[in-house]
Amino acid sequence: MSTSGKRFLVAIAAVLLGLTAAGTPVLAAPVRAGDRAVDFDRDWRFALVNTTGADAPEPAATDPSWRAVDLPHDWSIGLDPTAGPNTTAGTGYLPGGLGWYRKTFTLPSSLAGKKLSIEFDGVYMDSAVYFNGKPIGTHAYGYTGFNLDLTPLAHTDGHTPNVLDVKVRNQVPSSRWYSGSGIYRDVHLVVTDPVHVTRHGTFVTTPNLASTIKSGFATVHVDTTAVSESGDNRAQLAVTVRDAAGKPVTSGTSVVRLGRKALTTGLDLRLDHPNLWSTDTPYLYTVDTKLSVGARVVDQTSTTFGVRWFTFDANQGFSLDGKAMKLHGVDMHHDLGALGSAVDRDAVLRQMRIMKSMGVNALRTSHNPPSPQMLQVCEELGIVVMDEAFDTWRTPKVKYDYGRFFDANSDADVTEMVNAAKNSPAVVMWSIGNEIPDSTSVAIGVPIARRLIADVRAADPTRPIVMGSDKYRQVPADGSAQDQILRMLDGLGLNYNTAASVDALHAKYPTKFLFESESSSETSTRGAYDSPDQLNSGENYTPGRRSASSYDNNLASWTMSGQYSLKKDRDRPFFAGQFLWSGFDYIGEPTPFDDVFPVKSSFFGAVDTAGFPKDQYYLFRSQWSADPMVHLVPMNWTDHRPGEPVTVWAYSNADTVELFLNGKSLGVRKFDQKTTTDGRKYLETTEATGDDKTVTGGPYPGSYTSPNGSAGKLNLTWTVPFAPGQLVAVAKRGGVEVARDELRTAGAPAAIRLTADRGSSLSFVTAEVVDANGVTVPSANNELTFHASGGQLVGLDNGQQESAENYQSSSRAAFNGKALAIVRGPLSLTVTSPGLRSGSLNGMPSNAGPAVKVKPGADASFSGAPNTLPAAMLDGVTTSGGWSNYYSKAATALLPAVSKAHAGDWVSESWSAARQVGEIGAYFTVDAVHSLPASIRVSWWDGQAFVPVTNPKITWAAGSNQPTRVAFDPVSTTKIRLDLDSSRPGAGNGFLQIAELTTG
Ligand code: GAL
Repeated sequence: MSTSGKRFLVAIAAVLLGLTAAGTPVLAAPVRAGDRAVDFDRDWRFALVNTTGADAPEPAATDPSWRAVDLPHDWSIGLDPTAGPNTTAGTGYLPGGLGWYRKTFTLPSSLAGKKLSIEFDGVYMDSAVYFNGKPIGTHAYGYTGFNLDLTPLAHTDGHTPNVLDVKVRNQVPSSRWYSGSGIYRDVHLVVTDPVHVTRHGTFVTTPNLASTIKSGFATVHVDTTAVSESGDNRAQLAVTVRDAAGKPVTSGTSVVRLGRKALTTGLDLRLDHPNLWSTDTPYLYTVDTKLSVGARVVDQTSTTFGVRWFTFDANQGFSLDGKAMKLHGVDMHHDLGALGSAVDRDAVLRQMRIMKSMGVNALRTSHNPPSPQMLQVCEELGIVVMDEAFDTWRTPKVKYDYGRFFDANSDADVTEMVNAAKNSPAVVMWSIGNEIPDSTSVAIGVPIARRLIADVRAADPTRPIVMGSDKYRQVPADGSAQDQILRMLDGLGLNYNTAASVDALHAKYPTKFLFESESSSETSTRGAYDSPDQLNSGENYTPGRRSASSYDNNLASWTMSGQYSLKKDRDRPFFAGQFLWSGFDYIGEPTPFDDVFPVKSSFFGAVDTAGFPKDQYYLFRSQWSADPMVHLVPMNWTDHRPGEPVTVWAYSNADTVELFLNGKSLGVRKFDQKTTTDGRKYLETTEATGDDKTVTGGPYPGSYTSPNGSAGKLNLTWTVPFAPGQLVAVAKRGGVEVARDELRTAGAPAAIRLTADRGSSLSFVTAEVVDANGVTVPSANNELTFHASGGQLVGLDNGQQESAENYQSSSRAAFNGKALAIVRGPLSLTVTSPGLRSGSLNGMPSNAGPAVKVKPGADASFSGAPNTLPAAMLDGVTTSGGWSNYYSKAATALLPAVSKAHAGDWVSESWSAARQVGEIGAYFTVDAVHSLPASIRVSWWDGQAFVPVTNPKITWAAGSNQPTRVAFDPVSTTKIRLDLDSSRPGAGNGFLQIAELTTG
């Protein structure tokens, strides 16, 4: 964050009296004469008028719906996910609606004669602001900041209340993802003298740095735009650059004659031996600007900047401070998981630290300008930013999106994007849009692109302008809209292009730099695994288990595996890098479950919404980070049958990995050392991968083949017959161990372990369900109850995409062993669960609660489609329908369609009270795709585990949808389970279907 003035959020000198809507006095935000920007986040009132978004007047002051809130505030995140007319899967089933905010405050008489304005960093969306009963402005776009002048209507007598009302209207859907609703970013009251630096009036650049640095200095050019609203004034301008320790390092002054028309004054300061800002050493300087009239200082601002230069070269890609580097980027939406969109610096910092640990050095703020906090965090951590304006121009993508407002507002909004971030050393590109439908139209898109490009250049002539696009998968014809637009842009971000299409574009547009603005979009669920031998797998539709596999192998039609995306980028020196879609899972867009309530968060992330890494995180880390690492897939060495062959992968940046099971070596696997055609070294196996059907020639037809003629994988593989115990991967370089990963078989859930990641105002507490030896139980889904004493519990999450739980409730089930609690203020937390020893951080430990209750009904390890769920086995219909594990995946750009039977699956039935069972009947369907199983094993729940029944006798059915019966020695139990082996595993006709399940 570098906007002038915002860092003057300072101490309290005068506490002002405000009034609640109902007229009761409350302490309001402190305003001190002399503060330039006052934090205006505290002591607001909020009323949610409806969740439909229908327009309505402000509720009366006495209306009981008013409640006290502090900003930033997102009302949607506290609502229950609901399927209904005013919610969509795309926006996470969370309602929007119409809300009103009100803040009442008095201003001291010392502010009389000052210029007062209110500045919003972001209000989602379509807001209208009223001051002391009069409309003062509207702002439609939910992702840009704006300010409004309060001066003419303000009461500055020290006692007359000022009333600020903000109407916010979010008609859903208004974005293609979860946007949140409300005043979700900070608000400031800006107080200046009539003679002042204008909003965004400081612009710091370091011209010709690439050449001046050779002589050991930087020219710091500071443009200051100032105005005198009180008529002509002679003013002195003084600018001082301070280093990171606050020490002045260079300065300059100028005398300026100011009038009512804003005037820009440029000063060049010589900074000797500057510390350069880079992704490794993100060194920040500050420019302090002082404006004086005579002896009186009338304005002071402070702006963060960095000394760095970069180039995007059409043939050599990206370089920073003269050093070539690939953009190891991620795309992120702005939600912060359980906090929704209400911005919080600690939460942003945690997200981006997790990303940085994956090896990330770049962020695309898809598909809108970021919060000041996000920019600031990127500046501090050393992450370069592609700052993006819009997901839509005039033609909308969803019913209530910004398309409605584009023509009237886009010049101002795109200019605001640039102004808000122009001093940030992190920002290296401006994007005028993502996958814009209008961009294929010569009549509509070309003039809009021209206009937006001109707007951006007028505000910042120094950075390249791009867009992110899916409209360049074919080389554009001369004169087409895509052709004309690309010729106007400096470079282009591609979304999901094949390697061949990237090469073709590069050949046609040799002066335009290219990169992948969205790569992969592989979908996965933390801790879910399926069909490791397939490059694409079905997704699991069983309620409670809805998930996508984590072997980098669950792909929607337009997407590509993470491995393919990494290889394509690695092999192309001209490619500036990529932005993985996406760094974190976000709320909304739950592809591949597009309308299956309550699946409501995305599967695209390398990390889930709670911040827990998925296997994809480790794949990218192995390619992007130099810190030695090895990671085992699956992250579960518990839920397998003895002897069952388990496909084990290792991701590593070491060339050799040895795998041990219970101390016994299962063999060494090695990557080959390879070299790209331009001489960069990399590790990869050498084998046909089958991952690119568009490759028809060369040594590896059907496999992605590097320009150096080689093909291979970024993982090492073992097939391990399961035995409980300890699975250890030891990674070596030159025979020396550099990293290891270890999985242990867990026993029954016994306790809750808490670990805290403490920020300055928020703590992020991970709760893990562990066995008696402290091993995380990888499939534990125990219901956890959180008690915060002292601090405030502000959100719970577990990363599960399928969840109707309220983010602000005080209980949450663990998902695959883990849950996250976010606590504001002092951390004192106890987490309890029936049957488990509680976990506690500064809280009171409590004893284990009563035993876990069993949910009655049917379950299955995997259901292949939304209409073949386990419950259909109990619907009384024996002749058709039922549960099935049949799935079918459509072809992608690189892979053929696929539908292959699993080796096996299980189904189960449970009852709330124990009952006597001695026989089970299953009505298997036999048709073109379904067959009888090869074998059936029946087991029963003994309260701790499933144990095989004794003396099973199978009577196979003679035909389709006839009962196959298994009789056994009767047991008294609450759960019975059938493990079924496919008679044709890996074939398209070995699927299982059970029309009905009976027990007797
Ligand atoms: C892209 C789009 C992104 C996201 C992604 C999912 O087409 O630009 O916003 O929807 O697909 O794969």
